[in-house]
Amino acid sequence: MSTHGSANPNRREFLQTSTAAVAAGALTAGLASSVHAAGSDVIRVGLVGCGGRGSGAAAQALTADPQVHITALGDAFGDRLASCRKRLKSKFKDRAPVNEETSFIGFDAYKHVIANCDVVLLATPPHFRPEHLKAAIGAGKHVFCEKPVCVDGPGARSVFETVKLAKEKNLSLVSGLCWRYHHTIRATFDQVLDGAIGDIQAMSCGYNTNGLWNHDRKPEWSEMEYQLRNWLYYTWASGDFITEQHVHSLDKMTWAMQGAHPVKASATGGRQVRTDSKYGHVYDHFAVEFEYENGVKAFSRCRQQNDTQTDVSDHLFGTKGVCHIVSANTSIEGEKKWKYEGPGCNMYQVEHDFMFKALRKGETINNGDYMTVSSLMAVLGREAAYSGQTITWDQLLNSKTVLAPLKDEAGNPRYEWTQVETPKIAMPGITKFS
Ligand SMILES: NC(=O)c1ccc[n+]([C@@H]2O[C@H](COP(=O)([O-])OP(=O)(O)OC[C@H]3O[C@@H](n4cnc5c(N)ncnc54)[C@H](O)[C@@H]3O)[C@@H](O)[C@H]2O)c1
Repeated sequence: MSTHGSANPNRREFLQTSTAAVAAGALTAGLASSVHAAGSDVIRVGLVGCGGRGSGAAAQALTADPQVHITALGDAFGDRLASCRKRLKSKFKDRAPVNEETSFIGFDAYKHVIANCDVVLLATPPHFRPEHLKAAIGAGKHVFCEKPVCVDGPGARSVFETVKLAKEKNLSLVSGLCWRYHHTIRATFDQVLDGAIGDIQAMSCGYNTNGLWNHDRKPEWSEMEYQLRNWLYYTWASGDFITEQHVHSLDKMTWAMQGAHPVKASATGGRQVRTDSKYGHVYDHFAVEFEYENGVKAFSRCRQQNDTQTDVSDHLFGTKGVCHIVSANTSIEGEKKWKYEGPGCNMYQVEHDFMFKALRKGETINNGDYMTVSSLMAVLGREAAYSGQTITWDQLLNSKTVLAPLKDEAGNPRYEWTQVETPKIAMPGITKFS
């Protein structure tokens, strides 16, 4: 995990990193003196996207640091925001002092949340992440951001720029790729990166699971509202499930390759069981072969089909041994046998513990590079499967195709509660990559 930062922020300076584009030296004076004396060592945290994960992330931020307060909430929908606010208030009482004035609803909610906090938690569907990240880092706020961080090439380009800016401004950018914070998996990758299995020759990763939730259509909903309420099933919103979920597995490939990205991918995939129109137009299975510059291949598979065998496992094959990662259980076989003996953990909590402890020490954590590489890797696999062609990293990174249901005259996304199309189901050999 890379950290950038200097020692001992006081609250004012920690917070004011927010408003001025101050570099590393900004976080300087001691936390204790002025802040504690003024009784104002509170870190104001805002949440954008008050659903399941966002509500969880808010609770974890509150648990990580006793002086975290949730001061602003934003969501596209009032009902989602209200239930999150109720839960936070009932559990954390006056540490969630959000009121009507600091509850923001609609597509612009993120702007108001960012203006009303010091640290922003971003947990909307992935489509919005590039824009929200850019705004949060642009405004000088520290960020925790859920995976994945883009659904297309232009989104990835934007996030790469934002990651660079976060480094320049010395802002935290902690990723929700939570396995990176799991004690067992961290210890295992320490072994692998320390040479326990020799040089990596090939890798396999898989996320085979059952289906997820669905919301029934209501007559008063526009099609845009229906799609956003069921965002998992629309590629513009989720990136398809290879991006939304399987990114966790692909990130372990990025980890093993020390941040390198594949140069190309070929793939197959389709929609075999989950065919009802309530599942939008996404696939229910993918199998991808990624190839890296040094010739190493990663073989990836993922499935969301009910009543099928669940298998979340990754395997790294090296010149001296093999590393098996089966959910949170790991082992190394070969010249150097190894098994993790330490304690387990709640990785969702640990990522917030790291973030807030670092901030209190005047340090920042920037997970931006790997979170973007792994997200784009997932998009690469998807595009290879949708088109039935080999797609290169550079082709995708330079792609001008913006996934959005509505666009303005300049081709940028625009958002409105109105009628929108359901994209056609991608057909390999017919659907063209662009
Ligand atoms: N790290 C993990 O293991 C993990 C687990 C679950 C979800 N996630 C990620 O977290 C994110 C959210 O997933 P979830 O399961 O909480 O989904 P969810 O549907 O429960 O929550 C998403 C929330 O965002 C709101 N929203 C949609 N568009 C918005 C916009 N433009 N502005 C503000 N709010 C908006 C929705 O109304 C909803 O309340 C996704 O990126 C998902 O991949 C990560």
